Amino acid sequence: MCGIVGFVGSTNAAPILLNNLEKLEYRGYDSAGISVIENGCIVTKKAKGRIANLKKLTDDGKNVNGCLGIGHTRWATHGEPNDINSHPHESMHGKFAVVHNGIIENYVSIRESLTKKGFKFMSETDTETVTQLLESYYDGNIMDAIVKTLHMIDGSYALGIICNDCTDKFYAVKKDNPLIIGLGDGENYIASDVTALIEHTRKVCYLEDNEIAVISKDSVHIYNLNGEEVEVKVKEIDWNINAAEKGGYPHFMMKEIMEQPKVIRDTVTPRIKNGEVVLDGIELDRYLDTVNKIVITACGSAYHAGFVGKYVLEKLARVPVEVDLASEFRYRDPMINKNSLVIAVSQSGETADTLAALKEAKRRGAKTLAIVNVVSSAIATTADDVIYTWAGPEIAVATTKAYSAQLTVFYLLAIYMARRLGKIDDARNAQLIADLLKLPEKVEKLFEQKTVIQNMASLYFNEKHIFFIGRNLDYASALEGSLKLKEISYIHSEAYAAGELKHGTISLIEEGRLVVAVACQNQLFEKTLSNIREVKARGADIVAIVDESNTVIESETDKVLYIPSTDPLFTASLSVIPMQFFGYYVAAANGCDIDKPRNLAKSVTVE
Ligand code: F6R
Repeated sequence: MCGIVGFVGSTNAAPILLNNLEKLEYRGYDSAGISVIENGCIVTKKAKGRIANLKKLTDDGKNVNGCLGIGHTRWATHGEPNDINSHPHESMHGKFAVVHNGIIENYVSIRESLTKKGFKFMSETDTETVTQLLESYYDGNIMDAIVKTLHMIDGSYALGIICNDCTDKFYAVKKDNPLIIGLGDGENYIASDVTALIEHTRKVCYLEDNEIAVISKDSVHIYNLNGEEVEVKVKEIDWNINAAEKGGYPHFMMKEIMEQPKVIRDTVTPRIKNGEVVLDGIELDRYLDTVNKIVITACGSAYHAGFVGKYVLEKLARVPVEVDLASEFRYRDPMINKNSLVIAVSQSGETADTLAALKEAKRRGAKTLAIVNVVSSAIATTADDVIYTWAGPEIAVATTKAYSAQLTVFYLLAIYMARRLGKIDDARNAQLIADLLKLPEKVEKLFEQKTVIQNMASLYFNEKHIFFIGRNLDYASALEGSLKLKEISYIHSEAYAAGELKHGTISLIEEGRLVVAVACQNQLFEKTLSNIREVKARGADIVAIVDESNTVIESETDKVLYIPSTDPLFTASLSVIPMQFFGYYVAAANGCDIDKPRNLAKSVTVE
């Protein structure tokens, strides 16, 4: 959600800013803009819609000349997506230009007081207050104006700032929103995430909250709010540029679906040593026996992964687990204390609601653990402990491989905790680990069904409503299958706990209505089969996803998709694969923008 870039060097900034903005497109946006210092003046170009419009407006950046600039992709929050509300925002006299990710919570009162002082606002955005504040405080000392501005604003922000009195440096600031500095050779960059930097440099510095970076082509200096210089901590990015390219696939989503065996392998293999799960570098052992309750909190698909986590943790570690949407958790006065473990799950590590829930948990004294994909992201650095999902960069808005990696981490965590708490014996431990290690090849086997599912999608792509049902882990998987379909194909779909249908939902079933029934846990198969019969009797078309041993179902359904047998606790990792393909092919048949579905953002950095 929103993306920031910045550049200073010896070449024309605009084409570089545009190129880097394109790398952030996947985060989600509805307008884009750049500001460049040209002959001591700030020149700003903005356009509603795709970056292609901005490229056209600037002749691919060729008609804006200057070696220093900032750029932004905006996902509208305050004010509609239009040229005026797009970033960068210039101050009243064009002294400053600012790009911003996040929300300035007290912008209304600041705007009112600046208006009284004669400042004229052009846009409806919260961001413009930052630009105007900077100009209001500016007396020739940019750093001083920035510090005074930061003392005035409440909320979350990553900011890129340029001033027309300073033609060789720009400034970057962050609080609760990511901002990364890329260190090049005679040129330096900022960006919201590393995908925009990897083409230029592998050396990066993750700016920390309340730090101010001063960036010129040959140097980067970082200061705290007291004006004291702090160390620039340089890290090497260890993934290569191919990880952020489509690699011959038509969409990132398909590439990422196909990467799942590797991702599961990468997440599991380094954490199995001598037949035991090893979670290096986390403190869980120190307090595990004091934990009497676990709360998993997350949003969207990460929340669905949390559902799977609940079943697996309760089954193996025998600790009670609640799963809560992060946006609900923080406002429900949660009953947690020092004996609670709160697990925050997030691909991006930036999701505002999940971060806020995590902070609330810490405030209440709970132990906190994050399951995160993006290294050094806000959620990863805020939690007491972090277990990384080694999924690599996920570009498609609809998550697939990161979700799979999250499930895998929950399996590892559940086995680890069960072992430490003495809840499973050597034989069960060995069997679980053996099954876990075999998951990647079983996912690969499911890829053989791609064409069958594509053909199935061609039968159902015109549906208006589709239902998904399942029990326990199959229900968790149905929730994810339903979300995958609806978010990219725009077809309304719902997931229901199969036993719940007859309490209301079954009235929606009519002749020809598609119901995808997930029935992969053999111990619950008969129960779900009864629910399949109930909807079948009312005219539904049934596509069943079942364990390969359950061929009896063929006569009861319209189509069966089999998953390879595994431990019942791991079935969600397999049942989700056909549903990912189904969502993908239905969206493709409808001509949808699969990697960038309308209205959605990859990192949801606002509440
Ligand atoms: C759905 C999807 C979203 C995310 C959710 C949380 O395909 O990707 O539902 O799962 O926005 O995002 P993260 O995991 O980045 O916190």
